[in-house]
Amino acid sequence: MLRSVKIRPKLKRLVRWLDGAARHGLTRKGRSLDGPSAELLAQVRRYFWFHSIDLGNGVVTPGNKSLPALRAEADAIFGPLGLRGKSVLDIGAWNGYFSFEAKRRQAERVLATDHHCWSPEINGRATFDLARAALGLEIEGLDIDVPDLVPDRVGQFDVVLFLGVFYHLVDPIRALHNLAALTKEVAVVETHLDLRGLERPAMVFYPGTELNNDPTNWWGPNRQCMEALLRLVGFERVVYQPHPLVKGARGIFHAYKNSSPTLTRTASAPKAVASQRNPVAVVDFHDFHNNHYLRINQRRLEHLASLGLSLSGSTVLELGAGIGDLSTFFLDRENEVTSVEARAENIERMRTNIAASYSAYSSRATQRHRIVRLDLDKDDGTFLGQFDVVHSYGILYHLRDPARLIRLMDATCRRLCLVETCVSFGVEAVINPTPEDAALASQAFDGVGCRPTRAWLFDALKSVFPHVYVPTTQPNHEEFPVDWTRPGPSGQLARAVFVASRQPLPSPLLTESLPDFQTRC
Ligand SMILES: C[S@@+](CC[C@H](N)C(=O)[O-])C[C@H]1O[C@@H](n2cnc3c(N)ncnc32)[C@H](O)[C@@H]1O
Repeated sequence: MLRSVKIRPKLKRLVRWLDGAARHGLTRKGRSLDGPSAELLAQVRRYFWFHSIDLGNGVVTPGNKSLPALRAEADAIFGPLGLRGKSVLDIGAWNGYFSFEAKRRQAERVLATDHHCWSPEINGRATFDLARAALGLEIEGLDIDVPDLVPDRVGQFDVVLFLGVFYHLVDPIRALHNLAALTKEVAVVETHLDLRGLERPAMVFYPGTELNNDPTNWWGPNRQCMEALLRLVGFERVVYQPHPLVKGARGIFHAYKNSSPTLTRTASAPKAVASQRNPVAVVDFHDFHNNHYLRINQRRLEHLASLGLSLSGSTVLELGAGIGDLSTFFLDRENEVTSVEARAENIERMRTNIAASYSAYSSRATQRHRIVRLDLDKDDGTFLGQFDVVHSYGILYHLRDPARLIRLMDATCRRLCLVETCVSFGVEAVINPTPEDAALASQAFDGVGCRPTRAWLFDALKSVFPHVYVPTTQPNHEEFPVDWTRPGPSGQLARAVFVASRQPLPSPLLTESLPDFQTRC
């Protein structure tokens, strides 16, 4: 048994609380129900519910966790996964919200298991059965304790959910070994985290009721510890994301059995990986750090800051991150940053640069940074999930297929999408394919980019975002024209900035049409 005598007092407390909680029930709009719905609501009210589950016909179970909170968690958990046709094991299913959600998201087979919360005192099994019947979903249920969950008993599953269970186990490491044995493709571990300021992998032990006054809470790992443990037990690739609601106080780890596509963390040890198409030997990082480039970075970022947008404390997806020169803009604003880059050698440099940027202080910024290697012209990036802000500076014009990038922005952006790119003068909506030198570390990965007109980009963004703006100002740099009625000097790049948003952004610094003239910021 992994659980211990600490559980009994907790059960008693819960049972006392259930009596009160079960008296309440919910209808969707607070209206009274009749017929079968009233009967269902009466049954629902007999039990305690941890999950709010919409059972249809106006009945929602009165869960401790609200429907919006569960939806946000489900998006974070299932967003990176394609469940169609997959088998899913839900360990510690309680009322079954995530099992039902997996089935709703096209999983072929779902097995919900629990033991502690399916005990007669808590009655979770009855709630699971009731919700399953009301939803009419074909899902299996099995009362089995975590230590007994091994392939010999239940077989293997493509996807295994281990949500809110890890820290309740006295011996969570044994359970992770079993988790790995049960998993064919990916396990999703959601857990409480502690020791967030510590760079070294570590875990707090709570012998009593130190954590939330709950005697069934035993362990508080930090992110590094969870990642290392998941690798230790046999997962090749671990992708961390902070919990969508409580941020770094809890974490969600997608642990994959095989490692494609490549995803690495800034703080991890550098590995010498050479891109096949662009051998390290021809890469000149001076391309990034020549004076011209450094100056344009300064001007672009001061311009971005001047727009007064809300850019702090969010999740940020940085597309075409290069060697991470712009990543610190967001890391310094307490964001969780995911940087996407195609070139392995740029990623190595980015990892070193970011680590060096924060080495003088024991900053946690590197823990908020992860790096994903993707070719934005070829790979599907939608597995990355959703981010509050998508930052796309200096990448669109390096792509053969810029419309593909716009689709990725649409799929990944929850709130705000910032675009800076080289463009062509002209009023027609065209992309103007352009050859680039793939041997240069800052250019198109496969040697073909584009120079779209502002009209093309504006229309493309408008096709997926409800609000698209152009700043009334341009950065203080000659590559950013302020008069669009006449092309600038030949040979000089022309750059433009766009802000796309899910919500209206009333600001005198933003205009909803393509201006012929702009001013300097
Ligand atoms: C000009 S740098 C921009 C770096 C940074 N975003 C900035 O604006 O300073 C362009 C980056 O895009 C990357 N890139 C080019 N083609 C790409 C592709 N197909 N997929 C992903 N990244 C690509 C390059 O390797 C390079 O690091």
